[in-house]
Amino acid sequence: MGERSGYADVLVGLQYGDEGKAKIVDMLADQYDIIARFNGGANAGHTIVTPHGAARLMQVPSGAFHPGKLLYIGSGCTVNIVKLAAEIEALTAQGAQLDGRLFVSHRSAVIQPIHILADRAQGRDIGTTGNGIGPCYAGLAARMRGKERTAVQLRDLLRDEDHAFAMMQANSDSEGFQATRDEASEAIWLEVFASMRAAWERVRHFVSENDLFLTDKVADGARVLFEGAQSVMLDLVHGDQPFVTSSHTGPAYAYVGGDLPCQFHRKSIGIVKAVVSRVGAGPFPAELGGERSERYCTDAASKGIGQSEERQTADVEALLACGDDFATGVALRVLTGEYGTGSGRPRRIGLLDLPQIRRVVALHGIDELFINKCDCLTYFGKTPKGIIPVIVEYRAEAIGLRPVIAEFSAFEPLDRTARPSTTPAVAAITDIPASLEALLQFIERHVGCPIVGVGVGPGRADIVQLTPSPVH
Ligand code: IMP
Repeated sequence: MGERSGYADVLVGLQYGDEGKAKIVDMLADQYDIIARFNGGANAGHTIVTPHGAARLMQVPSGAFHPGKLLYIGSGCTVNIVKLAAEIEALTAQGAQLDGRLFVSHRSAVIQPIHILADRAQGRDIGTTGNGIGPCYAGLAARMRGKERTAVQLRDLLRDEDHAFAMMQANSDSEGFQATRDEASEAIWLEVFASMRAAWERVRHFVSENDLFLTDKVADGARVLFEGAQSVMLDLVHGDQPFVTSSHTGPAYAYVGGDLPCQFHRKSIGIVKAVVSRVGAGPFPAELGGERSERYCTDAASKGIGQSEERQTADVEALLACGDDFATGVALRVLTGEYGTGSGRPRRIGLLDLPQIRRVVALHGIDELFINKCDCLTYFGKTPKGIIPVIVEYRAEAIGLRPVIAEFSAFEPLDRTARPSTTPAVAAITDIPASLEALLQFIERHVGCPIVGVGVGPGRADIVQLTPSPVH
């Protein structure tokens, strides 16, 4: 590395997604020159509160509202051209200037119409987001079906647009889906491809053919923040197959999918939230209400029951007061707004699971932690026991693993009225109640990683930055 060279930090979620990564990226963005994505695609969905109102990001990195910061979408990402064009339009309308700031690797794989159809037909049991991400990565790995190429990268569109669209058409004619084709669906296909061509016109000038884009910039002193999509518990290999996403979500993958040599790595930042959630199917040992909660959420998602329906029917005070785990989960979901950003699906709710965090901190070499949604822990004060339950161990028993729960003192809601929610400042450490501080110190010791920030509310100003205490 040269004397002038910069570095990269990688920020990833340590649970099942939706830990509030975008909010932390938005807060840290000023310390970096480039914010980059390395995995996933339009399956990531997050909302950040900006001075221009709430902005919804799916494929564009979360630094969009920091003028002067470059944004990079690496080759490890899948790109939905139509959604990217719409996102660029929407962000531009909200005041984010992206021309000359946003760069997309020409090696990123294109989400083809057939991928979305296949995902919606086959991904139901996993509870995928239906964005075609899995079939797209699968096509990349398959490379060919007979004499036809299965994957289309953005570079194929740059080289020969007509040929790339012919490849996508051939893929959409592939086995299994041919049987469902009729005149009506033929017209829909034509429309879909026409809208892709129109979107491509908007997107093409953001595509970079320079594989050394980040490398050259970092060698010249640039500081990069890689922003992970999904989270490490949803990793294709290290998560619980098949209830995972289809890309690698750990920090090491940033240097493959993000197009930068790993020699520039400085540190890995992990984001967790104090009340955990999972959307879609799959193991969730800390789930409040266990299988009942999973069944209820799956059923609610299929019936289109979301935030407004639950809010109308749930008496949260009564649910919390009854002391039943399932009821507590429903109340916490309503009170903390845990519904899918894109789909609106109710998320399954669980307790903070320290053995799980400890394992992923060790597995992925996490250097520091942010804990979001600590303010949400105050709701446990309204349960009959009035304490905050945290899982500290799993004991093997005949029926399987039994969580061992430690109890922490509840605290009063934090007074956030003094801070305007759009100020990108941070709150003072004195804002943290003593019992929350005791819990944070316990977490640090238990998971073996310093906590550097605590989320105490939804706004940009609701993050308390901490000086890490020595980890024992
Ligand atoms: P896919 O990524 O759409 O294939 O979905 C695979 C699994 O990952 C499903 O359980 C999804 O609910 C989950 N998933 C994908 N993206 C996100 C996300 O951004 N947040 C939380 N869960 C996600």
